[in-house]
Amino acid sequence: MTAPTTSVPTAEDEADPPLPGVAGDPFDRDVLPTPPGATGALLRSLLKPMRARVAGTTLLLLLQQAAVQTGPLLVAYAIDTAVPALRGHDRGPLVAVAVGYLLCALASGALQWAFIVASARVNQDVLLDLRGRIFRHAQALSVDFHERYTSGRLISRSTTDVESLRELLTEGLEELVTVVLSFIAISAMLLWLDLGLGAVAVASFVPLYLLVRLYRQRAGRVFRERSTAIAAVIVKFVETMNGIRPVRAFRREAANDADFRVLNGRHERTNGDALLEMARYVVGSRLVANTAVAGMVLWGAWRVTDGSLELGVLAAAVLYLRRLYDPIDRLGMFLNSYQSAAASLEKIAGLLAQVPSVPEPSEPRRLPPLASSLPGRAVVFDGVRFGYRTGGEVLPRFDLTVPAGQTVAVVGSTGAGKSTLAKLLARFYDPTGGRVLLDGVDLRELAVPELRRGVVMVTQEAFLFSGTVAENIAIGRPEATREEIEHAAKAIGAHDFISTLPDGYDTDVRKRGGRISAGQRQLVAFARALLADPSVLILDEATSSLDIPGEQAVQRAMATVLRGRTAVVIAHRLSTVEIADRVLVMEHGRIVEDGSPSDPIAGTGRFAHLHRAWRDSLA
Ligand SMILES: Nc1ncnc2c1ncn2[C@@H]1O[C@H](COP(=O)(O)OP(=O)(O)O)[C@@H](O)[C@H]1O
Ligand SMILES: [Mg+2]
Repeated sequence: MTAPTTSVPTAEDEADPPLPGVAGDPFDRDVLPTPPGATGALLRSLLKPMRARVAGTTLLLLLQQAAVQTGPLLVAYAIDTAVPALRGHDRGPLVAVAVGYLLCALASGALQWAFIVASARVNQDVLLDLRGRIFRHAQALSVDFHERYTSGRLISRSTTDVESLRELLTEGLEELVTVVLSFIAISAMLLWLDLGLGAVAVASFVPLYLLVRLYRQRAGRVFRERSTAIAAVIVKFVETMNGIRPVRAFRREAANDADFRVLNGRHERTNGDALLEMARYVVGSRLVANTAVAGMVLWGAWRVTDGSLELGVLAAAVLYLRRLYDPIDRLGMFLNSYQSAAASLEKIAGLLAQVPSVPEPSEPRRLPPLASSLPGRAVVFDGVRFGYRTGGEVLPRFDLTVPAGQTVAVVGSTGAGKSTLAKLLARFYDPTGGRVLLDGVDLRELAVPELRRGVVMVTQEAFLFSGTVAENIAIGRPEATREEIEHAAKAIGAHDFISTLPDGYDTDVRKRGGRISAGQRQLVAFARALLADPSVLILDEATSSLDIPGEQAVQRAMATVLRGRTAVVIAHRLSTVEIADRVLVMEHGRIVEDGSPSDPIAGTGRFAHLHRAWRDSLA
């Protein structure tokens, strides 16, 4: 019997699939396909509540563009009308031009300011909504989902992916609206100024369009690769830091460094590819733009000399044309942010489209009133079959009846299916066949709050949340008073060590309870369970981190917690078995022995064998 040195690496950790390698993030693409239309639907549902505000901000942008685009027109008027008028000593038109230009500038500045403020508010609200949805949804998804979709991926969804949507909303959309508006407005203005010159501008749209299309195709692929590469870097980072203890214990640092270099290198390469695509696009579009401007100047100058075009109109046309091409680089930027946001939104939509594999009942049933004054309720496994998604059947056909108030100890070799049994009883998973009943009610039909209150599981890990010791105990019953919390801690035997902490019950247990030992964490977890006062208590190797001198205290603590409850105690230490009313020996998902703790000990069965080995190890 080997007691684990830390409580972090568990059997479940080792069963995890290996990190997706450099080949990509197959889980995002293959296991979690985004249903068709989900991305668009998500975007619509995010924007729908703010339709009016989106329309308002768009209007501000329209007005601002109108103010900006009047400029060259005023220049044309100045050259062709105001300057000749000045020669005739009429200053009026020139003053009007100057004042008009100033007003346009002021108006465009004010409108731009209003637009930035208004759109920032809309964007903030959209992103707040999205981040909240990701968190709520991920939290509501079942345990089996989280076993496959690592926390690194979730972090990547709610940081980088939300961030790329933010970029699209705060910069990209403004670019797009500005570009489209100025294309329409400027083309119309050019055509109105001079049909021929306008035609030159419109003709240049054809190569530009082809360029944009090519860029979209190529950049789309590159951006998806890049977003996958970023996610892989984050996943590796989070996984390594989460498992820092086994990393140290097994000297994994060098191997991790090598893995990380590969992932980081892939990220860098995809980033470089994205920049290269961007550079090609910018160079191409500038070439088209400058060719068009040069052509217009040549042809326009020729027409000015032969008298069919006024100089002012040519000047205005060249100014407009320059302005027309100005935002083309920014169109590239928009396409960039659009591509990465589309890739990100697709992944987020895929996540949000996941449905819990352990759904809440549509017509929840309540538990019948308790039969006695004690909290225990009867548990029945009725022909339960179960297998994890990734493996074969763990419980082939499992039948077990535990009367209310009975303490059942379950022993058996590693991998026998003991923890699986516990997780089915806590409804972390639903059986693939048969039923698990609590006082005759199928767990699948039981209202979720009743299930959570009724069945509590304490595991080896004894996870502590950030917050104080008192808050951690009170998780079992948030409305509990300080007296009740201390009472629970005393009953468990945790009060003494808590009193020696710097701030007693108000000591902060940051960093996964780093300040208190694994054994002390388990005592806190016991106090939490006692305070929760469940009908059914499951202890899955919950005493494995407590050392021998603690054992006596632990036995007392267990006896206190178990009193009157129905309990399933998965025993890592055979000493805990002695407080049970009944002992089950489990092998390969089946019960191979079922008796009282005294009789199998004396017998010749598997448990007797295990028990003798344990006795010998103590001697
Ligand atoms: N999350 C999981 N995904 C896939 N297989 C699992 C998972 N957890 C356990 N298993 C498999 O189920 C079997 C029973 O595991 P478990 O119930 O944890 O055994 P025990 O608690 O008795 O050691 C083992 O073969 C194990 O590999
Ligand atoms: Mg186990």
